[in-house]
Order: sequence, then structure tokens, then C-alpha cells
Amino acid sequence: MNVIIVKNYDEMSKKAFEIMKAAVTEKKDAVLGLATGSTPIGLYKEMIADHKAGGASYADVKAFNLDEYMGLDYSSDQSYVYFMRENLFDHIDIKLENTNIENGKAADPEAECARYNALLAENTVDLQILGIGSNGHIAFNEPGTSFDSVTHVVDLTENTIKDNSRLFASIDEVPRKAFTMGLSNIMAAKKILVLANGANKAKAVYGMVRGEVTENVPASILQNHADCTLICDEAAASLL
Ligand code: PGA
Repeated sequence: MNVIIVKNYDEMSKKAFEIMKAAVTEKKDAVLGLATGSTPIGLYKEMIADHKAGGASYADVKAFNLDEYMGLDYSSDQSYVYFMRENLFDHIDIKLENTNIENGKAADPEAECARYNALLAENTVDLQILGIGSNGHIAFNEPGTSFDSVTHVVDLTENTIKDNSRLFASIDEVPRKAFTMGLSNIMAAKKILVLANGANKAKAVYGMVRGEVTENVPASILQNHADCTLICDEAAASLL
């Protein structure tokens, strides 16, 4: 894994944007794998500012999001489909029909997973953006998830429910289940860019970069990827 340590969140976002811009400039119809959470918001802000200033176009880009809460859709401002429109898609020229995410309100969750896996099988992600959970999860692949997993429904761990409750009115409102791309879907991307900031990620970052490759630390699978770059701030890198 290629590790780039920067001073702070702002530098992390700018460095990540350089890689994003190179990807969409080199290939106008790039397939992007996108993530939600606090971590990539700075990257998305850089993309929006550049686009508004006449920079990169996303008109031919396709996007696949990692995960979605079960039971939520665009009508909920806590859903990830809402997050993506609010924080990125509504501010650049990507076509909404080229954006993909699991349908949190799908009547048949198994069929929804199959639909998403089929789409991913047809579309190889050129650049996958990832955050990392404080317990080492990537997307909603919690510790113990098989490295062979594909899109599936997960029971969120108490740790993740607690981490994510800051974005809800109360912890009781955090959905207990979610759809997520599996680890083998994520590993199929040609290039992976992981972002991490803050001291609460230091242990997970250590496990991802230096720890044993084990299903107990889902992000450790990234050590086996041929083209994976981590950009993290000094606080998140403090145990490396
Ligand atoms: P965060 O979440 O970006 O909000 O810290 C990361 C994750 O849980 O994958």
C-alpha cells in the first residue's frame, strides 16, 4: 500500500482531489466508486469548486456508491442517496441516471443485492474512494465479514451505530441494518484511494497498513490490492 501522510484534513482532501482529477481527465467515462461519511466531504468540495471554475466534467462518468441504510431512501435526509446529491451530485454535471446506489427501500433485499452485484459485474470501477471505520470496517463490511463477500445486507455493529449516531437526532434513529458492497466487489476496482483523518482512526489505520491480513480487520484486505493508496493526516497516522 502506498501511504501518503499529510498535515491535516484540508491537505488530505486536496491531495485526494489531484488523484480524482487525474482519473476523470485521463478517462472521460471513468467509473467511480464513491463513499459517504465525513471523510470524503472535503474531496467532494474540491471537485465541486474545480467543476464550477470550469475544470473537470463528469458528464460521461458513472458512479457506484458503496452502501445505503436499509429502510431509507431519498425522502430521508439521513439516507446516503440524499447525502450524495447534497454533497456532490447536485453540484457537478454528472447525470443522475449514471449514479447508482442500493435502494434502501427495496421490497426484496436479496433481489436488490443481486441487481447491484450484476451492475458491478458489468462495470469495473476505475477509482474507488474509501473511508475507514474506527473498527477497521470499509463500506459497511464489519469485522468478521468474509473477504469473498459481494453486495449483501448487514447488521450494523454497536460500534458503528454509535459512531454514526452523531448524524441522527438520537441513537435510536440509526438504522440497524444496511446494504453494502462486499469486500470482493471493492477489491475488483482498478485503483483504490483510502482516506483517513483524526486520532480515532489511528488504530484502524495501523491494522489496515501494518497489521495481519485478517477478516477481523476488513480494511487489512487492501494490503492485497495491487494499486491502493492511503492518504491520511498525521493524527490518523500516529501509530504507523
Ligand atoms: P466517516 O466514516 O468518514 O464518517 O468517519 C467512515 C466509515 O465509517 O467508513
